[in-house]
Amino acid sequence: MSAKAWGGRFAEQTDARVEAFTESISFDARLAQVDIRGSQAHARMLAKVGLLSQAEADLICTNLDEIRGEIERGELPIRPELEDIHMHIESRLIERINDVGRKLHTARSRNDQVSTDLRLYVREAIDRLDGLLSDVQRAFVDRSETDAEVILPGYTHLQRAQPVMAVHYWLAYCEKFQRDRDRLADCRKRVNVSPLGCAALAGTSLPIDRDETARLLEFDAIAANSLDASSDRDFLIETASCLALIAAHLSGWSEEWILWNTTEFGFLTLPDAFTTGSSIMPQKKNPDVLELIRGKSARVMAAASQLLFLVKGLPLAYNRDLQEDKLAFFSALDTVTACLELMPPIVSGAKLNREKITARLEEGFLDATTLMEYLILRGVPMRTGHETVGKLVALAESRGCRLADLPLAELQAACEIIDDSVYAVLGAENVVRALQSEGSGGRTPVAQQLATWRERLQPS
Ligand code: ARG
Repeated sequence: MSAKAWGGRFAEQTDARVEAFTESISFDARLAQVDIRGSQAHARMLAKVGLLSQAEADLICTNLDEIRGEIERGELPIRPELEDIHMHIESRLIERINDVGRKLHTARSRNDQVSTDLRLYVREAIDRLDGLLSDVQRAFVDRSETDAEVILPGYTHLQRAQPVMAVHYWLAYCEKFQRDRDRLADCRKRVNVSPLGCAALAGTSLPIDRDETARLLEFDAIAANSLDASSDRDFLIETASCLALIAAHLSGWSEEWILWNTTEFGFLTLPDAFTTGSSIMPQKKNPDVLELIRGKSARVMAAASQLLFLVKGLPLAYNRDLQEDKLAFFSALDTVTACLELMPPIVSGAKLNREKITARLEEGFLDATTLMEYLILRGVPMRTGHETVGKLVALAESRGCRLADLPLAELQAACEIIDDSVYAVLGAENVVRALQSEGSGGRTPVAQQLATWRERLQPS
C-alpha cells in the first residue's frame, strides 16, 4: 500500500500536509554526491564482511554511479513523499536493481547516514573555504607593491591615533583571515570522524567493519559512541561558528572601506564594476557590495546561533529537529562563500587616493606619541612626557599648526631636554621610520611582515 521505505507498520497513508511539512529534499538534494559516496563505501564494506556478495556490491556501486549521472542531468524526479535525498537515491536504486537495492541499507540508519553525508560535505566545504581565504590574503599581499610608499592614519575610537604603512592594514587582514583558516583546519579534525555504522542509535548486531568505511571515505577515525555520534552536530556548530567569525571579519573590513570610500575620508576609490548607481541621483556611486557583505554577515551569525538553539535541550539520540541543521548551515556557508568570492577583485581593484591621504596626513597629531617617546629616550618619565606633549598639542591646536611647526624655543620651554633633533621624529613620514618594534606599523617591521607573508602564500 505505502511506497514508503518505512511503510510496513502503517495502515493509513501519510497526510499530504505532513509530507510537505517533514520533507527535506528541497534543501538536502545538494548532499547527493556525498550520499552516493557514503553508500558506495558502505556497500563495499558490506561485501568485505560477507553481508553482500562482491557481485551485489559491484551492482550497487555501478548503479549508484549511474544515479549520480541522472541527478547531475536533472533526471531524477523530486517526490516529496520520499522525504529526503537518502530516500530518493535508495528508492531509485531499488527501482533499478530490485532486491539487491533493498540490501544497501543493511546495518545503517538514516541517522548515521545523514551525519556521514554532512561530515563529508563540511569537510569539502572547509577545504574550499581555505582556498577562498587564501585568495583574499593573496589579493591583500599583491597590492602591497602598489601601496608600498603609502602611509595611512591609524585610528582608535575612529579618532586619528598614529600613522602606519598602508601595507600594515593589508597584513592585519591577512592575520585575521589566517586565524580563520587555522580555526577551520582545527575544526576539520573533529569533522573528519566517521559516524557510519552507529546505525540508528545503538549500533548493530551485524558483523560490520566500521574502520573499513572510515578508510574508504578518508575519515581519520571512527566515532566511539553510537548514541553520541548519531545525535552529534557539534562539528556543524563549530564550523558555523568559524563562518560567523569570518563574517565578522568581512563585515568589519567592509565597514572600514565604506568609510574610506566616502567624500569625507576620500582615502579609497572602489572599482566601478563592484559599485552600483542610484536610480534618482545621477552622481552616485554606491558601495552596495560592501554594504551587503556587511549586511549578510547577520545571516551567518544568526545561522551559528540558530544551530545552537536547535540542539539546546535535545535528549539523546537522533531527533527530527536535527533536520533543520542543514538550512542554517547551508545559508551560512553559501553566504560566506559568495562574499569571499567577491572580495579579491574588490581588494585588488580599489585605488588608494594618495594625494588626498597625504594632504591631510599631518592633521590629528599622529606624531604626538612618538614625540613623547623621544622624551622618554632622553630620560623623561613616561607620565611626565605624556603631560608635556599633551600641553604642546593643546598649544599647536590653539595656533592651528602641527607640532613640527612649533619653534624650537617653544618646544624647549615645555621641556628643556628637547633639541634640534626633535624635528627628525615629527611628521608622519618620520614616525613610520621611527616605529621599530616587531609587528609594528613602521617601514622596516612592515617590510619584514610582508616578506613573511609573501613566503607563506607562495603557491605550493
Ligand atoms: N532527512 C533527515 C535529516 O535530515 C534524515 C534523517 C531522518 N531520520 C529519521 N529517523 N527520520 O535529519
